[in-house]
Amino acid sequence: MSRPRTTPGAEPSAPRSAPRAARAAAPWTAFGGDLHLDLGERRAAGAGLRAALEDALREAVQDGRLAPGTRLPSSRALGEDLGIARNTVVEAYGQLTAEGWLSSRQGSGTTVAERAAPRPAGPAVGLRAGHRPTGRHDLLAGRPDLSLFPRTAWLASARRALAVAPHEAFDYGSPLGRIELRRALADYLARVRGVRTDPDRLLICAGFGQGLALLAAALRERGAERVAVETYGLPPQRDTLRAAGLGLAPLPLDCAGARTDLLAGLTGGRVGAVLLTPAHQFPTGAALAADRRAAAVRWAREHDGYVIEDDYDGEFRYDRQPLGAMQALAPDRVVYGGTAAKSLAPGLRLAWLALPDELVEPVARLKESADTMGPVIDQLTFAELITSGRYDRHVRRCRLHYRRRRDQLVAALAERAPHVRVTGIAAGLHAVLELPPGSLPEPELMDRARAAGLVLTGLGWYLTERALVPDAPPALVVGYATPPDRAFPAALSALCEVLRTA
Ligand SMILES: Cc1ncc(COP(=O)(O)O)c(C=O)c1O
Repeated sequence: MSRPRTTPGAEPSAPRSAPRAARAAAPWTAFGGDLHLDLGERRAAGAGLRAALEDALREAVQDGRLAPGTRLPSSRALGEDLGIARNTVVEAYGQLTAEGWLSSRQGSGTTVAERAAPRPAGPAVGLRAGHRPTGRHDLLAGRPDLSLFPRTAWLASARRALAVAPHEAFDYGSPLGRIELRRALADYLARVRGVRTDPDRLLICAGFGQGLALLAAALRERGAERVAVETYGLPPQRDTLRAAGLGLAPLPLDCAGARTDLLAGLTGGRVGAVLLTPAHQFPTGAALAADRRAAAVRWAREHDGYVIEDDYDGEFRYDRQPLGAMQALAPDRVVYGGTAAKSLAPGLRLAWLALPDELVEPVARLKESADTMGPVIDQLTFAELITSGRYDRHVRRCRLHYRRRRDQLVAALAERAPHVRVTGIAAGLHAVLELPPGSLPEPELMDRARAAGLVLTGLGWYLTERALVPDAPPALVVGYATPPDRAFPAALSALCEVLRTA
């Protein structure tokens, strides 16, 4: 991450006398550090002057060249530096302040907002991870509102956990993870999700992503050749399965969830497991019906297979009684997977598997050879967060917050884009917005969305193979939890405008 370079001896009010023509890509010196701000390229791509300036500033904040707290030049100084009207700068600063990138206080000028955290630059490793397409309105599904992370509660729990941890807690330990967290989670999951497990069958892993990789390797060891997956799902999960040498057997979806009744009739290589999102199909949103749950369990029993239950957002259900975990039907055949990625933060890399007896030893062995065990201090802290009741309070607060967000989205669409069908909204942090037949095809819809500064995906991105659903309607998957409060109304407006004209 590059920071603004300071030039030794540079004066805060360095001369701004370069001829106008030469200035469009001039480095700033007004705040004591150089920052290359190139409007020329954006202008050449057709952006208006103000939009080009906004984009350049946003990008500089996002990639860390402008660190939080950095004071920006006055609008007059910057206007002169860039050879543009002062008013254009005033408007750009105003817009970025409204979006939360900048903050401006009377008397102290405009600074980069403390919470406009820079995104790390890095290799492109998929939409979920580090490098995402940038845009003004982040509606990418799969992430919570990061501004809700319970910093104070986490700190209090960390302090308490460190105060009471025995010395041996800091040693190498069980690959299953710290016993304090496994105990806390066993109780919590039983109470909140109806999971039937105990601390000796729980394994703490670095995200459900790692849990799935460990399971895939264990299944391969046991002779599995393929895993059944839902036709729509998270592409990185399919990559994980393939990387373990497993083939995929896609199961169609309908409004009752995955067609698990088709599992028994699958032909081809030996199917060792089925990966499901029973509480809230990802991303289409259906809850897996009782008979489909029963069919999956029956198949697992009869074929020596397993169900992998990805309960990625089970805490967030709004309109119905929470659906219990499917694992309770058959703890010997269903692996339950949960994660703190939605309820706390993806960056924690904290997730858990409740394993059937037979899988405890192989998965723990694979975890040990992967990375010995998870980091201890976060596990102790999370355990304390749960046992102190702070985690329950936090989840409840988030649930209210996300429910309000969802209601805002639904209301905005009903008013401004009533032709759009909204599905998958009974739970979770995202919705699927489906356009009627005859609307723009999805790739063009995505182009329009990108041009409007929206960062999101089309439903097609989640599909295993386009040929499986040839008549899929154009649809967008919208993560309504992702933007912080201050940025949500502008994101909603941009979204509705794209949909209105699609
Ligand atoms: C369907 C699904 N499962 C699981 C996860 C959580 O993955 P992890 O715990 O590896 O962050 C996500 C997060 O985006 C998800 O969308």
